[in-house]
Amino acid sequence: MEMKASKGLRGTIDVAPDKSISHRAVMMGSIAKGTTRINNFLMGEDCLSTIDCFRKMGVPVKIEESIVTVTGKGLRGLQESKELLYTGNSGTTTRLLCGLLAPQKFTSVLDGDASIRKRPMNRVINPLKEMGAKIMARDGGFTPITIEGTALKGVEYALPVASAQLKSALILAGLYAEGETLILEPKSSRNHTELMINGFGGNISTEINRITVKPTEELYGHEITVPGDISSAAFFLVAGLIVPGSEIRIKNVGLNPTRTGILDVLKAMGASIAIEENQGEIEPSGDLIVKHSALKGTEIGGDLIPRLIDELPILAVAAAFAEGTTVIKDAEELKVKESNRIDAMETELKKAGAQVRATEDGMIIQGGSPLHGADFESYHDHRIAMSMAVLALAAEGDSKILNHQCINISYPGFFDTITSLQNR
Ligand code: S3P
Repeated sequence: MEMKASKGLRGTIDVAPDKSISHRAVMMGSIAKGTTRINNFLMGEDCLSTIDCFRKMGVPVKIEESIVTVTGKGLRGLQESKELLYTGNSGTTTRLLCGLLAPQKFTSVLDGDASIRKRPMNRVINPLKEMGAKIMARDGGFTPITIEGTALKGVEYALPVASAQLKSALILAGLYAEGETLILEPKSSRNHTELMINGFGGNISTEINRITVKPTEELYGHEITVPGDISSAAFFLVAGLIVPGSEIRIKNVGLNPTRTGILDVLKAMGASIAIEENQGEIEPSGDLIVKHSALKGTEIGGDLIPRLIDELPILAVAAAFAEGTTVIKDAEELKVKESNRIDAMETELKKAGAQVRATEDGMIIQGGSPLHGADFESYHDHRIAMSMAVLALAAEGDSKILNHQCINISYPGFFDTITSLQNR
């Protein structure tokens, strides 16, 4: 994709619907009784992988434009798939399915694309085995994975990493287990699974970083309206901040506090972002109004990391345009995302002339030097491709985003939205 420096981004936009909530709505809808209507579903490739897996397990899922209707099968109504369950590029589908399939009365085989095959699955498999699960994985912890469904028992488990995918897998397994499951998180991660299960009639209680899952007899389907994804809004927040002359209103963005770390960081960097909250249902949401701002460097680490884990590549771009030093630390998880996002961002930012150094658990960026366009690689990672596209809008000269099709994983229509904002 060819990109040019922008003369200013102005207008009102909707961004892609929330990926995490879209996945979960299909999953919970499938194991609930009754119908779940999902408005504003994300038609990205990852969420379509989730739909495909549940259809293969006998769940009727109807897609009409952006509305998805799931005819739930009840907690014990999933059927064995005749075929392998292919999860594509989606870590959320792969890991949450491990937890959901472990207690079923049938065997499943899961596999994904080349990136999924490199991502660690032992973090999910080990605790599920403690619950009694029968799981086999390639090379001691990678897909393909075979899950022989069996009865599970509740356990107490301290997560070694703050991961919502891992936590959610254990919650789903815990719904079927004998006795309670207690999950201890090192830091709070996104809680969409807990909120949605309780909204569907389940019983998950949360004290700070302690989640107790009580087994459930049934969940009940619901109508859900998915808000815009703050992880997708992030690209337009940063674009609005770094392209001179910009002012963008981003409508109806999910503002769950477990996801809003990026707003805290950008404000600390000096960003002008106004928030107008809407009346939310299960999840809070609101409009974000961003204006071009002079940014300064900051430190990003500790408890903030799980609240903005997917936004770190685009925050690295913001840091490259900010005066002074930005330190990103405690973020070694970035190495095991869709690509190694520490190495990828170091290499690509350097191509644009930025001063950046990768560290063991993050990166250090010396911002403020003038940046120029280049041919940027995506690493087949949607968030790297979009981060470099945003950089290209604010850099001097022309750029190309190579292998940009991966953006369809989470944000079909990303480039159309950029075009709609260009000042002509
Ligand atoms: C997600 C959790 C995060 C995030 C991913 C989506 C989820 O992964 O990076 O994009 O929907 O639960 P981890 O749980 O591995 O941190």
